[in-house]
Amino acid sequence: MRVNLIKTLIVYDTVSPFRVTETIAVTVGQMLKEDGIKTDTIFVADVGGELLKNFDCLLVGAPTIAFRASKGIIKFLDGLKGSSYGAKPAAAFDTQMQSRLSGSAVNGIEGKLRSLGFKLDTAPLVTYVKRGTGRNEWQLKEGELEKAKKWAHDVGQSLLKQYEASGKMLPKT
Ligand SMILES: Cc1cc2nc3c(=O)[nH]c(=O)nc-3n(C[C@H](O)[C@H](O)[C@H](O)COP(=O)(O)O)c2cc1C
Repeated sequence: MRVNLIKTLIVYDTVSPFRVTETIAVTVGQMLKEDGIKTDTIFVADVGGELLKNFDCLLVGAPTIAFRASKGIIKFLDGLKGSSYGAKPAAAFDTQMQSRLSGSAVNGIEGKLRSLGFKLDTAPLVTYVKRGTGRNEWQLKEGELEKAKKWAHDVGQSLLKQYEASGKMLPKT
């Protein structure tokens, strides 16, 4: 197995009691692990210290709140200013309603990642939510979890290719 050669850090926010964005983050993390990539999946309020010093790829996800990324993720990304990330790969994901008027968390996340120096090769993952019957109840729309799994697999394959292209050899599986 090509285990643990590449390390991905997933930082996510989640706001509603139904933790939909967390579900996406955890699913993406599980897929990456299945592809042999070491992955830490961390709630934004818990991230810090060593975790931020030692990763090869950063994935950042948030729910869309008031047309943009949730406050927690914006604060996290703003807090990275001044650090040097040497064009490490990064990508954004979000949850949002499927509407022309929904706005989008990924746009702002991508803008901030770029201005921090990250390299964004992978298109962002947008996953759609719908209201449930309860108060502030949100659910993923059908098929969105599968979309997230495919995206994670694509991110994983892209990381493995970049690793090989950098001249480092991966052990044969
Ligand atoms: C106060 C509030 C504002 C919201 N604003 C938007 C919005 O502008 N666009 C959108 O697509 N969804 C919006 N939503 C829906 C959230 O995107 C949805 O609650 C979120 O995806 C659920 O993810 P979470 O469980 O990880 O918090 C809003 C939800 C709340 C509670």
